[in-house]
Amino acid sequence: MDNTWNDETARWYLERYGDHALNRLWLTHVTLAPDEFLLDVGCGGGASIKAATQQQKNIRAVGIDPVTTMITAAREILPRVDFYEASAENIPLPGGVITLALANCSVIHWQDVGAGLAEVNRVLRTGAQFLILEEAFASQTDDGRLNSPQDLPGHLKKAGFFVSEHGHHNTDGESYWATLAQKV
Ligand SMILES: C[S@@+](CC[C@H](N)C(=O)[O-])C[C@H]1O[C@@H](n2cnc3c(N)ncnc32)[C@H](O)[C@@H]1O
Repeated sequence: MDNTWNDETARWYLERYGDHALNRLWLTHVTLAPDEFLLDVGCGGGASIKAATQQQKNIRAVGIDPVTTMITAAREILPRVDFYEASAENIPLPGGVITLALANCSVIHWQDVGAGLAEVNRVLRTGAQFLILEEAFASQTDDGRLNSPQDLPGHLKKAGFFVSEHGHHNTDGESYWATLAQKV
């Protein structure tokens, strides 16, 4: 994980942004099936999964995040969902089981974007979708990391995904990029 994220910054983040507009806006880019098996990569305090379970009550969901404080907070709000302390680069799930993956403001923080995308690709079923949301201002500079949300289609294609949507949105005061890809 990038060194921004630890228990202290997680507490700061959860207090201010624990439940932000993108935790619900992501649901305008996909349609949840009643039997969906959702994976939230970099789930933070679990607010995106909570919004999904409010829309489709019986879906199965799992969230991963490398920071203990995030996972503890997520388990508190959603005790029946499985949350694992893990990174995108090493997802503790068998291959081909997930029907929808989400990374909400998370890819920009991954240490190794290529390794993380390969892992998401591995756990998705063939034809399953992967939705990435990133705030428009997000940027990083370190090697192996995502420099800008606009580089996502290139990274996704390199990891074997088909990219079906990549656009900038201004909604509910949020300026963000939404990128939707499929496992082929
Ligand atoms: C800006 S927060 C977003 C949290 C949540 N998705 C939300 O929308 O509130 C970024 C999250 O990415 C997580 N993260 C950092 N490095 C990661 C990695 N390598 N793999 C997965 N998640 C990571 C952080 O711990 C943090 O919870």
